[in-house]
Amino acid sequence: MRIIRSIHGYQAWRRQHENEEIGFVPTMGALHEGHLSLIRRARKHCSKVVVSIFVNPLQFAPTEDLSRYPRPVKSDQQLCREAGIDLLFRPSHEEFYPEDFQTSVKVNRLSQRWEGEARPTHFEGVATVVTKLLCLVRPHRAFFGQKDYQQLLVIKQLVRDLNLATTIVRCPTIRESDGLALSSRNRYLSASERMQAAGVSVALRQGKQAIRLGKRQVSTIERDMKKVLGKLKGLDIEYVAVCDAHNLEPLTNAKGSIVLLAAVRLGHVRLIDNMLVKV
Ligand code: PAJ
Repeated sequence: MRIIRSIHGYQAWRRQHENEEIGFVPTMGALHEGHLSLIRRARKHCSKVVVSIFVNPLQFAPTEDLSRYPRPVKSDQQLCREAGIDLLFRPSHEEFYPEDFQTSVKVNRLSQRWEGEARPTHFEGVATVVTKLLCLVRPHRAFFGQKDYQQLLVIKQLVRDLNLATTIVRCPTIRESDGLALSSRNRYLSASERMQAAGVSVALRQGKQAIRLGKRQVSTIERDMKKVLGKLKGLDIEYVAVCDAHNLEPLTNAKGSIVLLAAVRLGHVRLIDNMLVKV
């Protein structure tokens, strides 16, 4: 596995691999089984796999956890090596965002609701870094987790809007045995918060099951999911929603491709999760 830190170094590597099918997994590090599942998927479909680790300051608000974000550099490198990737790209902040950096990418409608409401500058930061990475890395396919469903839609939209030559591949959410979606932030949960956290997926699964069993009225589906979450000690609901899976607009009747979204707070930790269901 090669580790490249400079943009110039990456461009030289990429020129030497013009005839390969390049798969790309962008991450912010603190790698877990969720990230590794994307890497495995990339290895299956592509002849070379590039992983980036870059904690992107643009997607954190000043009040958020940028400085506390975990950066286990050595163990991440080891995990990448064991996963059999070809190249780990770890650009420096200074080179990636030089002092006169002033361009940004904003995906308007899709970025407004849900996570966008809670974190108004977040998706512009994500869209900007992902656009920059895709233009630089030039992958044939890039792999993203369904775990961050709104992020996935924002990225698909910018790739379409800007005619970028990369196929975005959605990969399933990897969960703990009790259903909690893996996340780099789960490590900040206390033991008791960790127990409550599994309830988020229980609520989503209940919503999904209700739709499968024929319930269509979204207000009652949401009320039932909130009831499950309401029983969990110390958990505050930010939003629970039943939406159109293509544009994230809230539905009144469940029909078509649906995504159930949930965002909660447990102490200082914010958790998001979602499930897809087709009617
Ligand atoms: P990060 O949170 O490190 O996640 C990197 C990728 O891993 C994302 O595509 C995310 O959806 C996926 N992922 C995280 N948890 C997962 C899980 N439990 N199962 C499956 N996939 C999972 O998302 C980001 O970084 C950043 O916003 C980034 C896209 C790298 C831009 O900075």
